[in-house]
Amino acid sequence: MRMHKKSHLEERLDACGPILTVADLAQKNMKLAAMERRLFDLQALFPQGGPVHLEVGCGKGGFVNQMAAMHPSVNFIAVEKISNVMIEACEECLKRGLNNVHFLICAAEVLPKYIPEGSIDRIYLNFSNPLPKQGFVKQRLTNPRFLRIYRALLKEGGEIWQKTDDEDFFNYSLLSYEEEGMRVLSVCRDLAAQPFEGNVITEHERRFMAEGKKIFRAVVRV
Ligand SMILES: C[S@@+](CC[C@H](N)C(=O)[O-])C[C@H]1O[C@@H](n2cnc3c(N)ncnc32)[C@H](O)[C@@H]1O
Repeated sequence: MRMHKKSHLEERLDACGPILTVADLAQKNMKLAAMERRLFDLQALFPQGGPVHLEVGCGKGGFVNQMAAMHPSVNFIAVEKISNVMIEACEECLKRGLNNVHFLICAAEVLPKYIPEGSIDRIYLNFSNPLPKQGFVKQRLTNPRFLRIYRALLKEGGEIWQKTDDEDFFNYSLLSYEEEGMRVLSVCRDLAAQPFEGNVITEHERRFMAEGKKIFRAVVRV
């Protein structure tokens, strides 16, 4: 489904000021773009200090804004490639007055341009697009090429927390973790049957739960 461009999008993005970075799109080759470093100064971004968690593909930001409100001593960077979607996340964050979230409009391929190596404690992959067609395997956010990016960004012993409703994509992800030599610490194949304390439900999760779908979850150490 094609989404209409939100009205006054540019002005609304501008109004988000210091909580938002929009990736420089001049370099179309993503590999080259990632190499032209514009690394965040995390100390300046989050002067209060504390661990930094990264959500890749945050959509409208329901998860990250709720997490940030629940965990004021943790800092969050939320990444989304579609500005039309991300604007809602940024505006909600401003409305809540949260000081521990920074938003980055950028494709996950370009993360090394902005995020310093070894600076992230945890990565969330919530309901990433499963992209079942073989031709799109490389675009899946748990494809080994992305896992290698995440490993570089994560601290030693850092973790990936994944949730999805798609069993085939989940199984594919488990194989990718194994292929990259990552340690799968826990696997849950029905989150409703084995809930964990502090689970924050994302927009997609709510929809899939209402449809009676099972939610799959893995915690992985790099
Ligand atoms: C199915 S939605 C899930 C949104 C949200 N995490 C949730 O659970 O409700 C997946 C999101 O990931 C984003 N996405 C997909 N590939 C991406 C990439 N390579 N870089 C950044 N974002 C990406 C999409 O634009 C979309 O908003």
